Amino acid sequence: MNLTKEEQAMFDGVQGRATQKAMEILTTLGTIYGAERMIPVTSVQVAGVSYANLGEAGLAFLSEMADGGGRARVLTTLNPAGMDIENWQTLGISAEFAENQQRVLDAFANMNIITTATCTPYLIGNTPHFGEHIAWAESSAVCYANSVLGARSNREGGPSALAASLTGLTPEYGYHLGAYRQPTINVQVEGVFGENTDFGAFGKILGEKLENMGGRRVPYIRGIESASVENLKSFCASLGTYGGVALFHMTGITPEASQIVPPGDAMVIKEEDIQGARESMIDAQSTEIDFVSLGCPHLSIKEIARIAELLEGEQVTKEFWITTARPTKEIADRMGYTAVIEAAGAKFAADTCCVVAPIKGRFTALATDSAKACYYAYAKNKFKTALKPFDEVVFEALK
Ligand code: F3S
Repeated sequence: MNLTKEEQAMFDGVQGRATQKAMEILTTLGTIYGAERMIPVTSVQVAGVSYANLGEAGLAFLSEMADGGGRARVLTTLNPAGMDIENWQTLGISAEFAENQQRVLDAFANMNIITTATCTPYLIGNTPHFGEHIAWAESSAVCYANSVLGARSNREGGPSALAASLTGLTPEYGYHLGAYRQPTINVQVEGVFGENTDFGAFGKILGEKLENMGGRRVPYIRGIESASVENLKSFCASLGTYGGVALFHMTGITPEASQIVPPGDAMVIKEEDIQGARESMIDAQSTEIDFVSLGCPHLSIKEIARIAELLEGEQVTKEFWITTARPTKEIADRMGYTAVIEAAGAKFAADTCCVVAPIKGRFTALATDSAKACYYAYAKNKFKTALKPFDEVVFEALK
């Protein structure tokens, strides 16, 4: 790669061991992917935050970077941790895990990284604009940033996102380049879209088809008339999970769609395909459901307001986690939504989620509106699942 004088000095260790290590990571990546140069990034989102996934080896790497003088050079936020940072006892997290998770968060804080732990950074102020180069690691957020915001990010791993934060740089390849953002397949979808589950089921069937085709996957989607922010974050999570997709274009909805000439023949996805995908995420009987969770990806304040409306004066009968970013929870506190929700017996799980928290063995079956949560509930924790529309998930907690 061609490095500038300043970048070469970073690579040579002039700015400390952590910056040098970060440059080694980035130049290795750049060389593998054929990047000619580094480009500056303005925003980073680091994944690999839960101690359950990192373990001591991951924590040792973070501590080495923090002790080696690593400091964030651009706005950097974190993906969810393994627990609610303030309220972990209520969620049944052990004191030992909490202590280790706090060591991870302290290492990030030492690097001046904002320890707001969320997979929806775009809802809480880490919100890049159209065309901005960024380095994000959470797959659903990368897909949202690329597709819905029109920012430019590759799907970073935890170490490469951290390296981007500590240098303010990323190698220029992949989705940073216009040519790579061109659609590879034209998709015509038929059906009625309204619920997050509709978008999640569509993301699953489309993702699986693209996965089977291999290669670069940038679908150009026609047939959806409108989609809310909440629908799109759900779709991005599903498409990223089942198809490894980091960018899609949707006519009339995403910003680059109108600037692009779609490829020729269209793959058609019919309502019955989507229904089949929906049904494939339901293997739990209602009597088996002992865990209910909304907030994959993390809930918006609008969704939390709806939960409060539905739970007003009610009492839940099952463990019900409401997962969101801490700043969103703080708005819910101020608006009185938290008081209503907690009076009903549901629990906020800020900073974390039903996938990254260490809950294996605690439950049998999960009710959720998230196709991504269904995938990991089984893959990670061997829970059965029941995919249901948002309101019905809340009603499930009341049965
Ligand atoms: Fe976010 Fe956890 Fe889902 S990180 S996208 S809530 S699996």
